Amino acid sequence: MDVRLTIDGHEAKAPKDMSLLDVVRRVGGEIPALCHHEGIAPIAACRLCLVEVRRPGRGEAVLTTSCDYPVSEGLEVVTASPRIRRHRAMNLQLLLPYAPDAPALHEIAESLGVTAPLFAPVTGAPLPGCILCELCVRVCAALGYHALAAIGRGDHKRVGPPFGRSVATACVGCGACHEVCPTGCIAMEDTATTRRIWGRELELFTCRRCGKPFTTVAHRTVMVARGDIPAESCDLCETCRSRDYARRLAPVR
Ligand code: SF4
Ligand code: SF4
Ligand code: FES
Repeated sequence: MDVRLTIDGHEAKAPKDMSLLDVVRRVGGEIPALCHHEGIAPIAACRLCLVEVRRPGRGEAVLTTSCDYPVSEGLEVVTASPRIRRHRAMNLQLLLPYAPDAPALHEIAESLGVTAPLFAPVTGAPLPGCILCELCVRVCAALGYHALAAIGRGDHKRVGPPFGRSVATACVGCGACHEVCPTGCIAMEDTATTRRIWGRELELFTCRRCGKPFTTVAHRTVMVARGDIPAESCDLCETCRSRDYARRLAPVR
C-alpha cells in the first residue's frame, strides 16, 4: 500500500514502511549516509542521515535518522536545514578520527562545510579506518556466509572473524564486504592465482571464456550449489556474462 508524504514541500508517494532514506533517494534527494545499503536491515550507526520529520497531528518536527525510519501517511519531511546540517557535521566530526583518510568522509565533510577535524585521529585501532558501521557484517550475513561479527562493546568494539579468531573460517572470498565498506579499510589482495582476505588465502577461479580470474573457487562452488544463477553462468565473469545476455537479447536478422 502506498502512502503520501511531503519531502521538502514536494508531494511524494511511497510504499508504506519503506525507509525514509530510500524514499528520498528515489525522488532524487540527497542525504549523506555511510552505514546504509538498500535491502539490508539498518542499524543507524553513522548518524549522518538525519532529517526532520513531523507526523500529522503532532506538534514540533523531530530530528531522526532516516535509514531506519519507516514512511507513513501524511509525514512532513525536511532533508536540509541549519539544525540538520549542524547535527550531521557534529556526527561526522565523531567519525573522522576513526577514518581520517577516507575519501567518503571527506566528501561529506565538504558538503557540510566541515573544514578541520575537531578531534585527533584514533591510533592503535584493531582495524584502522573502520567506523564500525557493520555493513560488512550485515552484508556477509545477508549473503548467508556469517563469516564476520561485531565483537566487544564500547571502546573495545570491533568487527572481524567471530569468537576472537584471527581467520574468518567461513569466508568464501566473495569480496562483498570489501565492496560495501564505506571507508575502504578491508584489505583484499589478489595475486594471479589467489585472494587474501580476513586472514584467508583462497584459490581464484578463472572465467571459462576470457581466462580472467573473477572470483574464488570457494565462492563459485557455493553459487553452483545454491543454484543462484545457471551453473554455466557461474563459470563466466561479469563482462562475459553480460555479453552473453546482450547477444541473447539482440534481434535475429
Ligand atoms: S569476502 Fe568473506 S567475509 Fe567478506 S562478505 Fe564474502 S564471505 Fe563474507
Ligand atoms: S570494516 Fe568497513 S564495512 Fe566493516 S564496520 Fe568497518 S567501516 Fe564498516
Ligand atoms: S545511514 Fe542512517 S545512520 Fe547511517
